[in-house]
Amino acid sequence: TWFTLCVRKRQVGEPPLENGWIPFLGVALEFRQNPLEFLRSKQRKYGDSFTCKIAGNFFTFIMDPFSYSAVFRQGKNLDFQTFAIETSRKVFGHADFNDPIYNRNYKEIHALFRQTLQGPALHNLTSSMMENLQTVMLRNKTSEWTTEGLQSFSFRIMFEAGFRTLFGREEKPSEMENIEPKKFQMTTAMDNFNVFDRAFPEIAAGFPIYLLKKAYTAREALTERLQHKYLKKNHGLSALIERRMNLFDQMPYLDELGKARTHTAMLWASQANTLPATFWSLYYMLRSPEALKVAQTEVERVIQESNQKLDKMKKTVVLSKEQLDSMSALGSIIDEALRLSSASIMIRVATENFVLNMDSGKNVSIRKGDRIAMFPQMIHMDPEIYENPTEFKFNRFLDENGQKKTFFYKNQRKLKNFLLPFGSGVSECPGRFFAVNEIKQFLALVVFYYDMELKDPATPVDIDCSRAGLGILPPKHDVLFRYKLKDCISE
Ligand code: HEM
Repeated sequence: TWFTLCVRKRQVGEPPLENGWIPFLGVALEFRQNPLEFLRSKQRKYGDSFTCKIAGNFFTFIMDPFSYSAVFRQGKNLDFQTFAIETSRKVFGHADFNDPIYNRNYKEIHALFRQTLQGPALHNLTSSMMENLQTVMLRNKTSEWTTEGLQSFSFRIMFEAGFRTLFGREEKPSEMENIEPKKFQMTTAMDNFNVFDRAFPEIAAGFPIYLLKKAYTAREALTERLQHKYLKKNHGLSALIERRMNLFDQMPYLDELGKARTHTAMLWASQANTLPATFWSLYYMLRSPEALKVAQTEVERVIQESNQKLDKMKKTVVLSKEQLDSMSALGSIIDEALRLSSASIMIRVATENFVLNMDSGKNVSIRKGDRIAMFPQMIHMDPEIYENPTEFKFNRFLDENGQKKTFFYKNQRKLKNFLLPFGSGVSECPGRFFAVNEIKQFLALVVFYYDMELKDPATPVDIDCSRAGLGILPPKHDVLFRYKLKDCISE
């Protein structure tokens, strides 16, 4: 609109304003190049809140972690859902769930996340994931060393196991598992997922997917396979997908492809962050001999406690949700990997002009239509909260008793929000417990089954920052490692 194209003037009570020097784009390019450095430099200049024009929108950044709660509490004047649905619709091409004709159903659909991903429902998901992970891992039973990219290894195992856990599998008999066509289908699905996911930042930023031919074709191919006529034949569908299918089937305005598009969105939400988070957890664990040792000891302890003998193992390992919860060393490794790789941005849209009361006592005027943004990487990389913040410390999230550490401080004050890879408030990830569980299962199983080593542990892997704002950042490139089934298992 003309309004956003024109240079805006700061009003009394509003935070300092950066219009940038490029019309419309504002500071978008500088911000995208390195959000962390950009925000740090603006914080030095302006303090704990300031407004920047980014691609036609005005974003007020809240930098002080003690003021995050003030935003999370502001249910009345801040909206998340409308904006989230708009973005998701741009990317996945599903129906406009902001339209009142979907209102009641959408609330029900949203409520399903908690009902089927948390609490008692997590037990079923956990045991299904445990079985699926081992099916995929143990397809290759050779006792030789295998060399593979660590990213390729963790992605293919987690993708297939996670896919099967949510969307089920085509048929039961386990002797059918090895046949080529099915393997091919899963590989194709994963290739399509990767092609689509690589284009995700551009599409989310507003670039029409129709112009990104490969990404569009990949998304449509994924969607084709997630139609109800196929899913209904699958065994072992998760409650989440089964109940979503029932609800979508009751929505007269949705056609079959329209329903499938919502499943593609769910597939993406369940995998896009989990895959790189699994990579980093395994990578950091293998790179630190101490971390690996502690993980091995913990896995051995839990397996022994549950009387599953390593040498007499014929069947797959079973670890209950409670056992996984008790694995605090693996938990700390995962939290530390998430801290180092997470770069999501939390956004809310102001539905009215209102005043935000910051923790410092300062009042900040926010205009209707503006966005409030929080970038938790600022907290994750704050040396006052985390000493040597760029370093991996496997026990950073363990207290002196080896239990989960929950006390972190800034300015001698205890922080409520110190680790936010899953967001917080209304937009907090409903899959967070399942996500941590499945990464723990993956780590426990690779430690249990394999001898593993990185080919070149001395050379660090850089993080690809081009996706900052979207969640867990992937590595810039893959790294080689080798693995081999432990002798006592392959015999
Ligand atoms: C939303 C992170 C795994 C399901 C989110 C959001 C974040 C996030 C930051 C909020 C996005 C926003 O504020 O715009 C992560 C990370 C994961 C992970 C870091 C893994 C390490 C999962 C898994 C599932 C899942 C495994 C499901 C099985 C969802 C859903 C939403 C969401 C459905 C949207 C919720 C809504 O619209 O209210 N996730 N997630 N996530 N996540 Fe996750």
